Amino acid sequence: MLERQVASLLEDERDFIANAANFSALVYTMLPLVNWAGFYFPDEDGLVLGPFGGKPACTRLPKGKGVCNRSFEHAESVIVEDVNAFPGHIACDSASRSELVVPLLSGGLVYGVFDIDSPVPGRFTEADRRGVERLVAQFMKATPVPERYGSVRKSGSRINERIDVQTCRDHHVVLRYLAEDLGNAAPRPKVAQALLARVRTVLVRHLKLEDDCLYPRLQNSSNEILRGKAERYRTEMGGLRRQFSELWNRWSADGAIAADVAGFHQEWLSFQTALLARIDSEDSDLYVAVDAELA
Ligand code: SME
Repeated sequence: MLERQVASLLEDERDFIANAANFSALVYTMLPLVNWAGFYFPDEDGLVLGPFGGKPACTRLPKGKGVCNRSFEHAESVIVEDVNAFPGHIACDSASRSELVVPLLSGGLVYGVFDIDSPVPGRFTEADRRGVERLVAQFMKATPVPERYGSVRKSGSRINERIDVQTCRDHHVVLRYLAEDLGNAAPRPKVAQALLARVRTVLVRHLKLEDDCLYPRLQNSSNEILRGKAERYRTEMGGLRRQFSELWNRWSADGAIAADVAGFHQEWLSFQTALLARIDSEDSDLYVAVDAELA
């Protein structure tokens, strides 16, 4: 019902402030058990109050502090069941007890947040989050955000995201070479030990880039298939990560490989096979889908 109301509220108007004001007023009046609903937009020092429904609120939320900044900086929705238990929560109205904040996403960028407060603890469920995300997506689609509000964009820009994917691919190339060299170097334990350390360096950086940039970006995709794919890849990587850390714990110490060259070789080959298969499928499946998403 709210989606239909939002649609009719926004259909004839493109003015950003008018639409943002009516959107907040609609959510504020229509959702039960809500004492505040409104927008915050970024500037150099943090977030600044936008149109809202409810009592006057904090005009500025300093960078890095509070629930709204958390949502904005991570480009993901945040539900806080009990605001008193959220470290750094910014209390604008002492009556507020729980909160739902949804980022304003469009074209891979974050333009601000939409924040809803409730006087009831635990007011917001996952279903509320999904519903409000849909309403916010509808708002973003119907109303172009003026440059003034989108001028400080905290999330990676599309071009940065493309560079991140390219860096992931480059890591793959390096890992392939190192893995092959290490497979051949097993009979020379000193060389193998040095190569193992290099594999670890690249692998750690690679996984960090995927975890910090690639997966969070994919989780926010509007493409459900891509979201599912990313989740499958992420879960599956857990196994490979564990396999490598066991291998590292067993063989990285000085002299460990020399003491059992054949044992190391066998264990390495099994990891190498799994790693290369994984790299191949990321290159030909996951990253291809990501490229299409960022095109
Ligand atoms: N509680 C928010 C501040 C905004 S008000 O709730 C309207 C926060 O911690 O970011």
